[in-house]
Amino acid sequence: MSITKIAVMGYGVVGSGTVELFYKNKESICKKADRELDIKYILDLRDFPGDPFEDKLTKDFNVILNDDEVQIVAELMGGKTFAYEYTKQLLSKGKSVVTSNKELVAAHGAELLAIAKKNKCNYLFEASVGGGIPIIRPLHQCLVGNKIEKIAGILNGTTNFILTKMIYDQLSFDEALKLAQQLGYAEKDPTADIEGYDACRKICILGSLAFGKHIYPEYVHCSGITRVTLDDVEYADNAGYAIKLIGSVEAEGDKLNAMVCPRLVSKNNMLASVNDVYNAISVTGDGVGEVLFYGRGAGKLATASAVVGDIVDAAKHIGRPIVSLAWEDSSSRDFIIRYKESAVSIYVRITADEVDSYKEEISEMFGYVDFIPRKRRCEKELAFITPKLAEFEIDKRLEQISKKCKIESKIRVL
Ligand code: HSE
Repeated sequence: MSITKIAVMGYGVVGSGTVELFYKNKESICKKADRELDIKYILDLRDFPGDPFEDKLTKDFNVILNDDEVQIVAELMGGKTFAYEYTKQLLSKGKSVVTSNKELVAAHGAELLAIAKKNKCNYLFEASVGGGIPIIRPLHQCLVGNKIEKIAGILNGTTNFILTKMIYDQLSFDEALKLAQQLGYAEKDPTADIEGYDACRKICILGSLAFGKHIYPEYVHCSGITRVTLDDVEYADNAGYAIKLIGSVEAEGDKLNAMVCPRLVSKNNMLASVNDVYNAISVTGDGVGEVLFYGRGAGKLATASAVVGDIVDAAKHIGRPIVSLAWEDSSSRDFIIRYKESAVSIYVRITADEVDSYKEEISEMFGYVDFIPRKRRCEKELAFITPKLAEFEIDKRLEQISKKCKIESKIRVL
């Protein structure tokens, strides 16, 4: 039997994890793939003297591109420049590509899937969302009998770790971020995580797959957790909620409501008890109801687990594109609802001298509001949750309040 040869591009955390896991479980992996598999090349510009796989290292992408023996390539380099060009070239030559690169899938998924289909190979990206959690394959295979109604999830481990430390250990945002960096969860430049961009790319991938049209990150309202304070965490807790960064996409009529933002999540919702670096994704289908996918959303071997799963699937489908893994491209955001038009409840924290004197006015303005109690509440501070209204209507009322009080925080309720 001929051996199916694999190349791994990028020998960083996920790349080295993929090589490690592959060789650790090679026998059972090949048995399940029903063929002999082996890694022929590892592409990286760095040197790794003494590495057990030093003989497989190459710095030249063309060696992989032009080797007809290589049928599957794991792109674990990240980014949108070289990874994009290399992926296009590989797919155009009929080599399947598997990846953890959510930035690339979110930006060019529709195009790359189309190139793969045309060239009778596959572009697989189970590792791009939720690390080791199976979510891509369940969406287009196990749940294919459903019309998907809603997806909402905790899609970023770093921010979930930070929020967990704020909730349980009363660390401030800055202290929790520093700890996340010390523990190696957050990057030196943590912008993509804390501003929500990483979660946004992931919800775009899930939404594109579930609803069949490419949702570009630019179409999606995205805000991160940098403005969440310990005051908000405590008020939320007193009202029966935990604050979580939630990526969501939901069908509303013939349009989609997609968003990434911090949310007050009721403690009765399972997402509220997903802590530390864990991720969880809730999917609601018209047949199955709600299902929850939970696990390690990042990390070397957890992500490698999804990459190796895709390598095996690619090996089983050589010359046969997996047609259920596809969506149309989109050229405008018309199918995405303007988020301010969507109905939502909002938690609001305000400050003013003698702020309690505005309670009646605020209640009348909204019909009713739930004022949130807090132990040792500062007498200049008030927090409440509005009823569910179109967000622009809530904003109009808050504009009135802001003439007398300072609006310190606004966080949507899930
Ligand atoms: N920075 C990401 C996270 C890594 O914290 O979830 C996995 O995509």
